[in-house]
Amino acid sequence: MKEGARSPEGSGLFFLGSPTNMLVGGWWRMVKMDKLKLMRTAISLALRGEGRVSPNPMVGAVIYKNGKIVSRGWHHFFGAPHAEIDAIKKAKAPLNGSFMFVNLEPCCHWGKTPPCAPQIAAAGIKKVFVASRDPNPFVNGRGINYLRRKGVSVEVGIASDEARFINRGYFSVFERKKPWVILKEGVSLDGKIATKTGDSKWITGKTARIFAHYLRYVSDIIVVGGRTNRIDKPRLTPYLWMGKTHPLGYPARCVVTKKMPKPGCLENVDNSNRLIFAVSGKRPVKSGIKNSANFEIIRFSNLNNLLGQLARKGYNKVLLEGGGELAGSFFDEGLVDEIFFIYAPVVIGGKKAVSAVSGAGISVLKKAASFKNGSISRIEDNFVFHGLRDVHGNY
Ligand SMILES: NC(=O)c1ccc[n+]([C@@H]2O[C@H](COP(=O)([O-])OP(=O)(O)OC[C@H]3O[C@@H](n4cnc5c(N)ncnc54)[C@H](OP(=O)(O)O)[C@@H]3O)[C@@H](O)[C@H]2O)c1
Repeated sequence: MKEGARSPEGSGLFFLGSPTNMLVGGWWRMVKMDKLKLMRTAISLALRGEGRVSPNPMVGAVIYKNGKIVSRGWHHFFGAPHAEIDAIKKAKAPLNGSFMFVNLEPCCHWGKTPPCAPQIAAAGIKKVFVASRDPNPFVNGRGINYLRRKGVSVEVGIASDEARFINRGYFSVFERKKPWVILKEGVSLDGKIATKTGDSKWITGKTARIFAHYLRYVSDIIVVGGRTNRIDKPRLTPYLWMGKTHPLGYPARCVVTKKMPKPGCLENVDNSNRLIFAVSGKRPVKSGIKNSANFEIIRFSNLNNLLGQLARKGYNKVLLEGGGELAGSFFDEGLVDEIFFIYAPVVIGGKKAVSAVSGAGISVLKKAASFKNGSISRIEDNFVFHGLRDVHGNY
């Protein structure tokens, strides 16, 4: 058996020293290539691009040869080389006969950078393990077919659920034509997000707020209701999270309202992050404010329509930051995919205090939005409930 040959197909066993070596050189090694572990390494490399690559997906690549990882790459930021090319360029020795693990199908079209599949074939990589096909119609199966035509073997599907999950916004936009929607709220034990006077600063602790800023950092656009914008005047930037900047100035910010904004409402257009006022209704109403590079007014007929518009603008992951009426509207239209409720050990009380979720609500319990894969974690004396809507089979 040749050095590095696979035996038998699918067993994951690779003989890295030949029998001749064993007899003459006195050593041989039989190493089991752990495909799942290597793909998970690729996925964790992909996550290094979190908050910086959108609307592109996060991608990581591992190159494995002679029983060890010989190179690692990832997509560092939007516009930078893709993970596969990063890994190929970083390799210090020829890659012929090696294996690549990558969480998303290599591309075969020109985008901001040259296509990856031809460079993988040219590098002599023998087999590519792909976690998931790319839903982008420019790629979807073409990258895999290109590699196979060039004699590179391809296996698809290792850790595909994990790979889809890290890029759930990207998959959502191609498969559902709308972004992935996450609702985050800081809540008292009795389900309130502000007192009857609108005071909400702060229900949760400082560390929980840093976590909330991390959620902002890894989102493409932050959305709040008109009243939250008027009362809190939030900056809606991840200023507590020490991340690097996104080349496109993400996350953008969006205020959902029924009212056309007036010049005085623009106090928070104070930095580079784009601000969108999404005004319900179709009639063109003059606002007296001109659209600019940093500011835009859009109209929407319903929230599903708004999400479609945000997807077309390149926002894959939406973070809803309340308040309760906005959250209720999204629940009423069945548009919340994931929640982070950060509970503080306080009781606010009062019929007129603001509830975490208002809107129209439901009349029978069996229609309640339920969540699966729920997890509870602790941040100092706050508790975070994280869950996904149980309608999602694939994420
Ligand atoms: N603890 C927390 O995590 C947290 C987070 C956010 C906010 N808050 C607090 O919550 C309070 C505000 O919450 P709230 O429930 O009263 O109000 P809200 O949800 O912030 O805003 C309600 C407003 O949003 C707009 N809106 C909502 N759904 C809409 C839809 N489907 N179409 C068009 N416009 C829509 C309307 O804006 P217009 O009125 O402009 O037409 C509506 O009046 C504040 O006191 C704030 O401090 C707390």
